[in-house]
Amino acid sequence: MSDALSAQERAVWPAGLELTDQGLSIEGVAISELAERFGTPLYVIDENDFRARAATVRRALAEAGAAHGVSVGVYYAGKALLTAAIARWVSEAGLGIDVASGGELAIALAGGADPSQIGLHGNNKSDQEISSAIDAQVGCIVLDSAEEITRVAEAAAWRGRRQPVRLRVNSGVHAGGHEYLATAHEDQKFGVPLAEAAALIGEINRHDHLQYLGLHCHIGSQIFGADGFAESATRLLDIYAQPGCSAPELNLGGGFGVAYTPEDQPTPIDEFAAAIVDAVVARASQLTIPVPKLVFEPGRYIAAPAGLTIYSVGATKSVPLEEGRQRRYVSVDGGMSDNLRPALYGARYTVRLASRCSAAPAVLSRLAGKHCESGDILIDEAWLPGDVGRGDVVAVATTGAYCYAMSNNYNALTRPALVAVASGSARELVRRETIADVLSRDYDANNPGASA
Ligand code: LLP
Repeated sequence: MSDALSAQERAVWPAGLELTDQGLSIEGVAISELAERFGTPLYVIDENDFRARAATVRRALAEAGAAHGVSVGVYYAGKALLTAAIARWVSEAGLGIDVASGGELAIALAGGADPSQIGLHGNNKSDQEISSAIDAQVGCIVLDSAEEITRVAEAAAWRGRRQPVRLRVNSGVHAGGHEYLATAHEDQKFGVPLAEAAALIGEINRHDHLQYLGLHCHIGSQIFGADGFAESATRLLDIYAQPGCSAPELNLGGGFGVAYTPEDQPTPIDEFAAAIVDAVVARASQLTIPVPKLVFEPGRYIAAPAGLTIYSVGATKSVPLEEGRQRRYVSVDGGMSDNLRPALYGARYTVRLASRCSAAPAVLSRLAGKHCESGDILIDEAWLPGDVGRGDVVAVATTGAYCYAMSNNYNALTRPALVAVASGSARELVRRETIADVLSRDYDANNPGASA
């Protein structure tokens, strides 16, 4: 990797990232300064970039719809990254928020999100989650099974409310990892089979306390092209064309992919949006049915590239391989507790030395975490200057989505703080967890001798 940022590498970093003589800076704040002030590991989010990406995806989808006179709604998938401030940012950008649990619902509400712009998902919602959502007057509950129709209808009836709902179906299309696969039968936990949709829509429509908005489908995540969406939408519209199954809206879920490495080439969002809307419009016209309002739920597209994680380098060592080659292990002060994605999905990332510039030739390195597990590798093959060592700070790109959200306490490591940086200043959105936080939940640590 050359020192300067190529156009392809630029795409993996937040818009506010700059390469200066002293190393990397973000939104005008040196990364070494962030490390000093807030400690490492540290999640950093470029607030302006996050807000701009939310606005961009909304605009791209709205324009693609407007080209055909179709209206489009966009919910941010809060599971990617959610704090009260982030709920406020997306609301200010005109997006609704999609939540996957009572906890995410509480965060969205704490951030002042308009409940009528919140949708609740989940394949196993608790009674408490259903009640809280109805009490908060959320704009939509996504029904995931036949039994949930009755449960939500009863909970709404008990409160004298008419709850807007969608029905999640399996379209048989799976996308992600740059591919898509369409099957006739589904064997997964989300949604109901397409073959049962018409009967269940009939059942929803018979409940006075449910208001049917339309079908919902999410085909996967980190998708690079529109084909899977088009195929899925086609299958769903075939249901809309059946007697008694028409609906005002069609929700096609999230999944727009982003570049994690310079080699990744996702379809640009305007093209992506136009291809999906064109396919929906074409199918609706073949079926001679009205085009429903289209709804999308992007998470990763908005959050991932706006975030990065900074780590301090600790131990380094070179391990001899065959044929005289060497592998340089560069260990950092975090790992699979702050980014589970490489271990869980084999996800690939990009890293750079952040706290200084180096003229040392790049050597093939492996960025390792500090967990007691050999699979705790953040980046399998990374080119880092050969002089990177203890005390240096490195930055890993594109960690804004599903890293903080999936962070954990493995090895009793404390979860990092999350800092927002905008126009030259930084502030903590979530403080760093402390050992005292971890111990506070341990009964015997707080009640010595209690069980003796
Ligand atoms: N809507 C629904 C119903 C979803 O299940 C998801 C993601 C989204 C929207 C947002 O998808 P996105 O636009 O972010 O791709 N932990 C995994 C990703 C799991 C995604 C689950 N559902 C990862 O780190 O790659």
